[in-house]
Amino acid sequence: MSAPIPASASASGRRQILVTSALPYANGQIHIGHMVEYIQTNIWVRTLRMHGHEVYYVGADDTHGTPIMLRAEKEGITPKQLIERVWKEHKRDFDSFGVSFDNYYSTDAEENRVLCNTIYGALQQAGLIDARDIEQAYDPVKKMFLPDRFIKGQCPKCGAKDQYGDNCEVCGSTYQPTELINPYSVVSGATPVRKTSTHYFFKLSDPRCETFLRGWVSGLAQPEATNKMREWLGDQGEAKLADWDISRDSPYFGFEIPGAPGKYFYVWVDAPVGYYASFKNLVDRIGLTFDDWVKPGSKAEQYHFIGKDILYFHTLFWPAMLEFSGHRTPTNVFAHGFLTVDGAKMSKSRGTFITAQSVIDTGLNPEWLRYYFAAKLNSTMEDIDLNLEDFQVRVNSDLVGKYVNIASRAASFLIKRFDGRVQDSAMHHTLLQTMRAAIPQIAGFYESREYGRALRTTMELADAVNGYVDTAKPWEQVKDPANAVALHETCSVSLEAFRLLSLALKPVLPKLVESVEAFLGIAPLVWADADKPLSSANPVNAYKHLTTRVDPKQIEALLAANRESLQPGAETAAPKADAKKDAKKGKAGATREEAGIVSIDDFAKIDLRIAKIVDCKTVEGSDKLLQLTLDIGKEKTRNVFSGIRSAYQPQDLIGKLTVMVANLAPRKMKFGLSEGMVLAASATDERAEPGLYILEPHSGAKPGMRVK
Ligand code: 2FM
Ligand code: ZN
Repeated sequence: MSAPIPASASASGRRQILVTSALPYANGQIHIGHMVEYIQTNIWVRTLRMHGHEVYYVGADDTHGTPIMLRAEKEGITPKQLIERVWKEHKRDFDSFGVSFDNYYSTDAEENRVLCNTIYGALQQAGLIDARDIEQAYDPVKKMFLPDRFIKGQCPKCGAKDQYGDNCEVCGSTYQPTELINPYSVVSGATPVRKTSTHYFFKLSDPRCETFLRGWVSGLAQPEATNKMREWLGDQGEAKLADWDISRDSPYFGFEIPGAPGKYFYVWVDAPVGYYASFKNLVDRIGLTFDDWVKPGSKAEQYHFIGKDILYFHTLFWPAMLEFSGHRTPTNVFAHGFLTVDGAKMSKSRGTFITAQSVIDTGLNPEWLRYYFAAKLNSTMEDIDLNLEDFQVRVNSDLVGKYVNIASRAASFLIKRFDGRVQDSAMHHTLLQTMRAAIPQIAGFYESREYGRALRTTMELADAVNGYVDTAKPWEQVKDPANAVALHETCSVSLEAFRLLSLALKPVLPKLVESVEAFLGIAPLVWADADKPLSSANPVNAYKHLTTRVDPKQIEALLAANRESLQPGAETAAPKADAKKDAKKGKAGATREEAGIVSIDDFAKIDLRIAKIVDCKTVEGSDKLLQLTLDIGKEKTRNVFSGIRSAYQPQDLIGKLTVMVANLAPRKMKFGLSEGMVLAASATDERAEPGLYILEPHSGAKPGMRVK
């Protein structure tokens, strides 16, 4: 079942392998949906390392782009400060989950800038870069071009308000941002205008790209990926591939394009190049030759693990960028499906948008999740489900009931009765021979990413071992000294079987197996150790508890912890954050949100300030509004339109203090820009009890003071 060894392997069979997982955006926390991929990749990497191959697994934070720039601005820090903080959080999470990167880097690194420039320069030389003027939505207040997901408005089909520029969450229709009714910028609230600007394109429509990609697709491992590629490429001569817009205008957090001031590489250009940048940073430290790995003719293999949603970038743009810039192309791309929790999309309102950190904080062993995900993973792009009930049952029954119990039962007899030394003749027992013969098959399942099969086979072996122990009954054998030899055999076979099961589980449970190696007093296990049994020359060490059972209370705490952190601001600003939609819609089971309760953190986001009304005028053309000029202790006064004309004459308000919301997104109105809101009380039923009353602080309050 083992995957074929590529022809590039050296005569010794030692392969050189570069492996990556998708780079997470540097504006949000790592959650268990991300972890599926890192765990999948890491199990594969550990499998190959256990064969003795030269494997490098590199990662980095994906740091550039508009959402990260705006997120930093919202937090009042620079993008560099933001990405530095998030890098530490991500690294901490990967370490806790045993995701052993050889290098974890950042796309905002000098190596990446140089590589991007080199690749871009080569594509230019090859005649594959084009400059073209395009018209786009522009925010006149924020003075920036707006990606589609930063424009909202009324759905052109059903009229629902506050819908994104590309699809309606209410009626499900898709459309162009230009079709939205009353569109507004999510950044400033202003109405977007159309503006022209020069953009740079990678000419993917060039026949050279199409010819190359048609050939490259035939090497893809996953039939689903090949089919998708064929769909994108269309039939021969159909010319379906469109050129790819690879530039963005200032302001943008990223790398400026050489020779194009004010133009930046789109984040999706420097993200995959970031794989190479991280590897370059590593090889420079450990003294390898970068070109041996990345130039055409390289003997090394290169694999990218990704989610199925970013297949397009990895099977079209990235291989074409490499091919036409004088690099080798990926050996393969492995895509996986999405994670659901209890059968539904991860949701903040249900507490199933589970962060990696919360798993650690709740005291759940991350290796339990590694085991559970592995048991569900295969080589296809099928989605996988984390059923929390099944998770507890499976971990408790497989890991504790079937696996660890074997050691705990055998160890005490062996240590007490036989000085911790195995019976050497027992190492030839037929059960052990069968198990040893199964190890290469299990290693092969891992290598072909059929982790579920690897673990099913392993657990079948564990069942056989438990059956053997149940038949031998060491707890009965121990009662009669005449059975000493038989008891010794039972314990010895059990412990050697436990060693073999540990070998089979090592890619998935590296930390647990490290404790097993310490207990057995053996060197770190590799696949070739299947045939190196325990020996009486090396007594085992004192047995220490290896793992505990999952406590249902931990699961309750996990859900509560993630429900607690329900804050719109804590979500990633990445447009594809689906959880954002879930949280907003308040699906079944939502509690605080549905009850209209906000946390103290939610409240703290509203910047309330004492404001002095320095001027107040009626508004021509409106019988509802007054135009207020407000001093909030800053150099510039604020202009606010307020619907309080029915209650106040302008001269009544001039000179008065009130309270304003100072961080409300500015709103472009027919009469001008409104830069905040003053607070006023009114009855809940205005028809029964008309009247509006603006708030006024006690004497002593000064303009600009924060109201908390
Ligand atoms: O989709 C994402 O989360 C991207 N940050 C993945 C980038 S993968 C690679 F190209 F860098
Ligand atoms: Zn609609």
